[in-house]
Amino acid sequence: MSTSASVQPVPGQRLLPPLQVGPHTIETPVELAPMAGVTNKAFRTLCRENGGGLFVAEMITSRALVERNPVALHILTFDESESPRSAQVYGVDPATVREAVRIIASENLADHVDLNFGCPVPKVTRKGGGAVLPWKRDLFTSIVHAAVDAAKPYDVPVTIKMRKGIDDDHLTYLEAGLIAQNAGVATVALHARTAADFYSGTADWESIARLKETVTEIPVLGNGDIWSAEDAVRMVEQTGCDGVVVGRGCQGRPWLFADLQAAFEGRPERVTPGLGEVADTIYRHGELMVEFYEDESKGMRDLRKHMAWYLKGYAVGGDARRALAMVSTLEELRGHLAALDHDAPYPGADAEGPRGRAGTPKKPHVPYGWLDSRDLDPEFEASLREAELSVSGG
Ligand SMILES: Cc1cc2nc3c(=O)[nH]c(=O)nc-3n(C[C@H](O)[C@H](O)[C@H](O)COP(=O)(O)O)c2cc1C
Repeated sequence: MSTSASVQPVPGQRLLPPLQVGPHTIETPVELAPMAGVTNKAFRTLCRENGGGLFVAEMITSRALVERNPVALHILTFDESESPRSAQVYGVDPATVREAVRIIASENLADHVDLNFGCPVPKVTRKGGGAVLPWKRDLFTSIVHAAVDAAKPYDVPVTIKMRKGIDDDHLTYLEAGLIAQNAGVATVALHARTAADFYSGTADWESIARLKETVTEIPVLGNGDIWSAEDAVRMVEQTGCDGVVVGRGCQGRPWLFADLQAAFEGRPERVTPGLGEVADTIYRHGELMVEFYEDESKGMRDLRKHMAWYLKGYAVGGDARRALAMVSTLEELRGHLAALDHDAPYPGADAEGPRGRAGTPKKPHVPYGWLDSRDLDPEFEASLREAELSVSGG
């Protein structure tokens, strides 16, 4: 890959300076990517206990917040020790986004708001939302300005997270990065795929380097396919980005944040837990889930999806895996975990590499006529409203 970056790791020396997100100084320039259904208070707590960074809550829609939807408000639950508290908002209407950000900032519900422009799900993009929204330059500009204006009086920084564009023929990220910078956004993060790429193939880190060359006044964060601390260092070296955003790589591996902090501080230590330590982490995750939901059954149901991630590569038989994936009480969880071989060692490469959501490229679905103009035609307004109602993650 050609690159203009010249960041090189030196043992014992910090790879990058701290990341500045408005008034917040993030010593380890690493962000836990917002992931719907994953990055709730319980999971963020586990990650934060392992290493430093910025830990973003699950996305909420601007409409849900404005309507004071109890589920959305519950997503904005933070531990007392979380600082800064990072919320992510998805919206398609500038007035609603403005009001949602005003509520968050004025009611002190969070200290930082990230705007989500990365959702590739066809039911959302088909209505003009998510990763295809920045194509409508005027709408994107209005949303970003609305959020920044609403947050400014409270000194709450607004950041954006986006994809490269709709597909390789309809890229929007360089222009969107400049619009965001000019609007007063604190950082921009790029998931280096298009909506059409979905989660397939490998992220195009070259585009992160291009964004870094283009957006020069605010930090640029790179995102996509960081599965290890070494990947994070490589991304910084190859792209010159100011920080990294890690999603699927930490699913079932909250200790990745320890590795990331070590790597960014120039230290070689890496966490290689045996099955006993993994079992202890799963149990603690279970307890935190029950605390978050204040309901044992809900907490256990939500924990189930994490089991396959935690056990990837470890010597655990099919019956034990199935039992753990159907667990419904903490006591059951304790019993199933106790039956595992706590002396089984770290499996090495089998526990590493890609995990979580993958898939094949998808033809990008956009509203009929969406690509004809870069400005928003009023005919799309009704469908955009639906784009907000059907969103559920990025
Ligand atoms: C289960 C899941 C849920 C996600 N939810 C969101 C979301 O709510 N908001 C968002 O901006 N991105 C969301 N994403 C995208 C991630 O934040 C991240 O951009 C993407 O996974 C690429 O990073 P990675 O290769 O490190 O996983 C989600 C991804 C996954 C796998």
